[in-house]
Amino acid sequence: MLIKRPADIPASEITPEHIYLRRRELMAGAGLFAAGALLPTGLGASEAGSPLEARPATPALAAKGFYTDEKKTPFEDVARYNNFYEFGTDKGDPAKYADALTVDPWSVAVEGEVARPGTYPLEDLLTGIDLEERIYRLRCVEAWSMVIPWIGIPLHKLLAKLEPTSKAKYVEFTTLYRPEEMRGQRSRFSTIDWPYMEGLRMDEAMNPLTLMATGLYGRELPKQNGAPFRLVVPWKYGFKSIKSIVKIRLTEKQPRTTWQELAPQEYGFYANVNPNVDHPRWSQKYERRLPNSLFDPNRIKTRMFNGYEEQVAHLYKGMNLRRYY
Ligand code: MTE
Repeated sequence: MLIKRPADIPASEITPEHIYLRRRELMAGAGLFAAGALLPTGLGASEAGSPLEARPATPALAAKGFYTDEKKTPFEDVARYNNFYEFGTDKGDPAKYADALTVDPWSVAVEGEVARPGTYPLEDLLTGIDLEERIYRLRCVEAWSMVIPWIGIPLHKLLAKLEPTSKAKYVEFTTLYRPEEMRGQRSRFSTIDWPYMEGLRMDEAMNPLTLMATGLYGRELPKQNGAPFRLVVPWKYGFKSIKSIVKIRLTEKQPRTTWQELAPQEYGFYANVNPNVDHPRWSQKYERRLPNSLFDPNRIKTRMFNGYEEQVAHLYKGMNLRRYY
């Protein structure tokens, strides 16, 4: 099911079938160039010039917030210290149990205020949009942080393909509900009303920083990090970056979101990283940048909008950020 009409796609963007069918490479961003160097995808040079080629890092892209030169968190930490309550509440649970998840085939339902609703195989949603590498800070509301090299497509490009109607004011995202594979969803102790849900205001969704990730570190997204398709919103607390998405719905009204429903006094809809507004139970002024240890806590100051103030502050002009936390 092709969404973009072939006539709309420049020849340079059409994915040859042999590459299109190689889903694994597609999800990992095979042929991507990162900072001018080929990522370790194991592909031969002949395939490096595929449509999945990304632009090399330039000062102009860094100014857009697409890259940071801060030290990247090692892959091992990114893939072993996770929050993914569908697999348990311990940081090590997702890496231990997410293997049970079937991610291929994967389809995404598109509903609500769009001209092109439907249920799309994930490959079709990605086709015709160049994968890009983004090196973002991720700041969890629990006051730890990482720097992660993601691969994905900007959400605004996907939305352009789906054609939101003029009534679309918000984007709602839903995670897979499959208790037989997600042990946290069948746990008697879980307090979450599954499936996990998140949402963004339309202008937040359209911001060039907002990414739909399919990979990280030049590889397919590990299951514990939200394979095969997750949101990454780098200026918001990590819980907004919903994993393993199966539904995208465009709405007129602000969607319900999991954490706001669970503890509205602690987690707001906006959840912008803000060192001046503390969580009711802890300060948000500092964060522990991973990797760290008891002896080297690697404590750094948290920045307004997680350091993306220049790119996103205008979205909240005139808003009381203490009220809309
Ligand atoms: N998405 C789902 N479906 N379930 C979750 O429990 N946890 C969130 C977010 N997305 C979560 C989720 C939280 S609290 C954080 S901090 C990030 O995922 C963590 O992403 P990472 O494990 O890839 O670092």
